[in-house]
Amino acid sequence: MSETIAFKPETLEQVNKIIARYPEGKQKSALIPILHVAQKEFGGWLDVPVMDYVASLLSIKPIEVYEVATFYTMFNMKPVGKYVLEICQTGPCMLKGSDDILNHIRQTLNIKNGETTADGLFTLKPAECLGACGYAPMMQLGKFYHENLTKEKVDEILELCRQGAIALD
Ligand code: FES
Repeated sequence: MSETIAFKPETLEQVNKIIARYPEGKQKSALIPILHVAQKEFGGWLDVPVMDYVASLLSIKPIEVYEVATFYTMFNMKPVGKYVLEICQTGPCMLKGSDDILNHIRQTLNIKNGETTADGLFTLKPAECLGACGYAPMMQLGKFYHENLTKEKVDEILELCRQGAIALD
């Protein structure tokens, strides 16, 4: 599989621009932004051959990529659905009902935390504070925050996802 892993030419151009932001010998600084690009291009998660490919692009050891990719929760280490529902479950969101929101999603989609629906559409991913505590409870979906969640609001969001009518980036 690894020999077939490569960014599309236009993505590689974007990646090279990211690398060029940093001084010679400091390419590793480009790792996180490039992992975001890689995750987006290669199906929403970072398989080992993808991480190895990123390591080769940056002339660093694969372990240096694994260390970063496995540390940050925004990188997925296994396949995920088209829509990754990241539900904040930290204190303020919990006090404002994130447990109810999580329960509602688990029941509605018939999945547990970390699982993906059989149709490959949704992954439920509990998250720690996403910095929108004043609008709790909240979830991140793609690049966007959905705040002051209620069960009804969640149902609307799930329906929009099913219709492919919700923005991710
Ligand atoms: Fe949920 Fe901060 S506690 S966004």
